[in-house]
Amino acid sequence: MKEQRLTIAVPKGRIMGEAIEIWRKAGLPVPKDIEDTRKLILTTEDGAMEWILAKPMDVPTYVEYGVADLGIAGKDVLMETGREVYELLDLKISQCRLSVAGLPRVEPKGIMPRIASKYPRVAERYFREQGKQVEVIELHGSVELGPIVGLVDRIVDIVSTGQTLKENGLVEYETIADISTRLIANQVSYRMKQAAIKEIIERLKEVI
Ligand code: PRP
Repeated sequence: MKEQRLTIAVPKGRIMGEAIEIWRKAGLPVPKDIEDTRKLILTTEDGAMEWILAKPMDVPTYVEYGVADLGIAGKDVLMETGREVYELLDLKISQCRLSVAGLPRVEPKGIMPRIASKYPRVAERYFREQGKQVEVIELHGSVELGPIVGLVDRIVDIVSTGQTLKENGLVEYETIADISTRLIANQVSYRMKQAAIKEIIERLKEVI
């Protein structure tokens, strides 16, 4: 593994904790102090791997351009960004779903219902495939506010426990996709650094 140094793009935030846990369980090295540093690039003590800490939505970008050989990304992020990367493994962590939700018993109004989402491309594609014309409004978080304040008719958002919907008086209408976290690779790295990447896949497979 030493000859083939690998760089991995890891999403900062909620997924990172679970990713570190599965990495450690698999006996793979994790950079020291990763949980309490503001540094964005960290190296494992054996020097074999470099970790780039990125915003979740940016992970596939670093991987597509080859700045990172590997990446950890939610299926939601892969669907939204549409980046050209290989999806190697379902890590089965951060499992949730991407759904259409809204106020209960309220039908979308007008000829162009409004949809709020952090995933505008996924939302647009979904309704287009359903043959429905909608206006998608991009929001960057707390999307559940949308229908409550009257900005939109529906939202397309992540539902995990369902608590956020429930506490805000919203209901889930349709599931668009089941989501979980994936290990992804740059297409060239996957060929050039196959041995090192395969070793990581094998180790992870044992603990998934
Ligand atoms: C996510 C998602 C929902 C919530 C779902 O938001 O967008 O709002 O979690 O989880 P639940 O079903 O368990 O309640 P996040 O906390 O990432 O914040 P954000 O709204 O700012 O994106």
